Amino acid sequence: MVTLRRRTLKVLTLLVLFIFLTSFLLSYSHTTATTAWLPKQLVLELSERFRKLVAFSRRPCTCARCVGEQGVSAWFDERFNRSMQPLLTAKNAFLDEDTYSWWLTLQREKQPHDLNDTFKELFHVVPGNVDPLLAKKSVGCRRCAVVGNSGNLRESWYGPHIDSHDFVLRMNKAPTMGFEADVGSKTTHHFVYPESFRELAENVSMVLVPFKTLDLEWVVSATTTGTISHTYVPVPSKIKVRKDQILIYHPAFIKYVLDSWLQGHGRYPSTGILSVIFSLHVCDEVDLYGFGADSRGNWHHYWENNPSAGAFRKTGVHDGDFESNVTTTLASIHKIRIFKGR
Ligand SMILES: *[C@@H]1O[C@H](CO)[C@@H](O)[C@H](O)[C@H]1NC(C)=O
Ligand SMILES: *[C@@H]1O[C@H](CO)[C@@H](O)[C@H](O)[C@H]1NC(C)=O
Ligand SMILES: *[C@@H]1O[C@H](CO)[C@@H](O)[C@H](O)[C@H]1NC(C)=O
Ligand SMILES: *[C@@H]1O[C@H](CO)[C@@H](O)[C@H](O)[C@H]1NC(C)=O
Repeated sequence: MVTLRRRTLKVLTLLVLFIFLTSFLLSYSHTTATTAWLPKQLVLELSERFRKLVAFSRRPCTCARCVGEQGVSAWFDERFNRSMQPLLTAKNAFLDEDTYSWWLTLQREKQPHDLNDTFKELFHVVPGNVDPLLAKKSVGCRRCAVVGNSGNLRESWYGPHIDSHDFVLRMNKAPTMGFEADVGSKTTHHFVYPESFRELAENVSMVLVPFKTLDLEWVVSATTTGTISHTYVPVPSKIKVRKDQILIYHPAFIKYVLDSWLQGHGRYPSTGILSVIFSLHVCDEVDLYGFGADSRGNWHHYWENNPSAGAFRKTGVHDGDFESNVTTTLASIHKIRIFKGR
């Protein structure tokens, strides 16, 4: 709310300045017709541009093609809901009954703590006031690289290309050290859940994807007392990530990805597709790397020699085929680009 007011104020100040300047220039060119140093045409054009800027002041995108643009594809417009908020904040920390009971079934939590109490504890620890991701840069073209973990990144030499993006989103155990030439070295946001956590470099925002109440409690514990060391597997009891670098993926957004984008396929969405749909909401341009099998059909991670990885594709937890149909369709309508590697 505060940022919003500040932004409105900024726009208003600009508007007043602009009107003042325009009227001054117009009257100037009237009175001194012979020495009109600024053509009226230019003023008109400027005012047209300004009108556009104000019209799109929500988050004006200056890319040639903006991912969230409506009216380009009916398929996209049916699925994309701009009002869905990807991150949990103190203001939107609420799940309607349907969403809450769905969320509880994800990992069949037996005796979850009261969710409202958990939210309260959570926002004692992590920032809950504004959505830092959306507030940061308000004008321009935000280019994002979403980097999956596929072995197709090996010998791709995508590193510098990936690092040239404003945001670089990675997920789960993904390392960069030792793989920079292929996967790059920059990370701005790293998507994890407690069981997939890896220690992050300084200044990397951790985006926690909560699949259960315990995951939210873990964030509190891991940054304070360190009492939780086990969920259904051992998890790190302490993490070094700075509290103000922790973002929480909104559980309702997980359901939106499943309902709207995956049309209910799979029990719940993979971290990969959750990152992709997230990026559609916070970025202006989206490039995908490291998604899908390698050219020999293997599903191993780029840092492992394990061609049988990808067993998850058969468990029915995620519907990998449907998810990849969604990303290929997004690419086919030019909403995103997919770099297939090798
Ligand atoms: C889009 O999301 C908002 C906020 O969650 C919701 O109220 C609305 O019904 C959704 N619209 C569609 C078309 O699903
Ligand atoms: C949390 O609080 C809201 C009201 O703010 C209430 O509607 C909801 O039922 C509560 N949820 C839980 C899980 O207690
Ligand atoms: C982290 O961010 C701070 C403040 O923006 C900056 O001064 C510092 O150099 C950054 N550290 C690294 C390792 O990028
Ligand atoms: C996705 O699946 C639909 C329905 O099965 C099919 O018609 C379409 O061709 C697929 N799209 C891509 C890009 O694979």
